[in-house]
Amino acid sequence: MICERGPVAIVQLNRPHKLNALTSSFWSEMRTVLRTLEDNRTVRVVVLTGAGDKAFCAGGDIADFQNLTSLEQRRAYQIDAMRTFSALEESPLPIIAAVNGWALGGGCELTLACDMAVASDKAVFGMPEAALGLVPGFGVLRAPEVIGRQLTKLMIMSGERLNAHQALAAGLVQRVVPHDELLPAVLDLAGRIADNSSLAHAVGKKLVNRSIQRGDFDYSAEALTVLQSSQDAREGISAFLQKRKPQFPNR
Ligand code: COA
Repeated sequence: MICERGPVAIVQLNRPHKLNALTSSFWSEMRTVLRTLEDNRTVRVVVLTGAGDKAFCAGGDIADFQNLTSLEQRRAYQIDAMRTFSALEESPLPIIAAVNGWALGGGCELTLACDMAVASDKAVFGMPEAALGLVPGFGVLRAPEVIGRQLTKLMIMSGERLNAHQALAAGLVQRVVPHDELLPAVLDLAGRIADNSSLAHAVGKKLVNRSIQRGDFDYSAEALTVLQSSQDAREGISAFLQKRKPQFPNR
């Protein structure tokens, strides 16, 4: 859902009953939304947030993963997701994540793909994919640069979560505000950005992002495709859907 407030467009992930988990159609829809906003000359800043009071986004829809039955489908899914993270990073528009609750898996990765993040004091960040026999394909590329290699490995291996203040200390978010003040605080920041030059934003973003390695996207998408086809992933995904603890085979 998009709502425009002058030069600021608010894009809301709108599936609160599933904690805004991302369906497989999300990835291309998000790119379409972004293109529409980029073509709209009055939009100068984008805010990405989640509907409801609980979640920014609880990650990719785990039930949907079961519909990916062939290697080709899994590869197409991973490439689709990577293209969307890339579109967010490469957009000339400044994009602010307004993290209003759970930011797990793809939700944490969306935070990393935005240019900056403001978190509610109720926000919780995590990359718990190892419990599903998976890894966050974009998070493993970006989080090391943002929060450091060791903390990234701790998070992706243990599933340990960061609260909003820990995320601030780690550099994953740039501000923490009381939950009820999140949107006003983000709109205030977005308004100050919108007052500045869009041309300077586009050039500045490009220069800051110049070290980003695009080739790694293909490498990560392929690694994820193979991982998603493993016995471990089958067990992890089934366990989540059956609301039980996974039993992974020995190494
Ligand atoms: N994919 C699909 N459905 C999801 C989901 C996801 N990533 N995250 C949450 N949901 C669904 C739950 O299955 C539940 O649906 P139901 O009511 O039909 O059973 C609903 O959203 C509410 O979630 P629930 O687990 O009941 O809420 P909770 O407050 O007990 O726990 C979380 C919240 C975020 C800790 C928990 O939902 C969770 O661990 N989600 C998965 C996170 C994850 O692994 N993300 C990475 C995916 S690659």
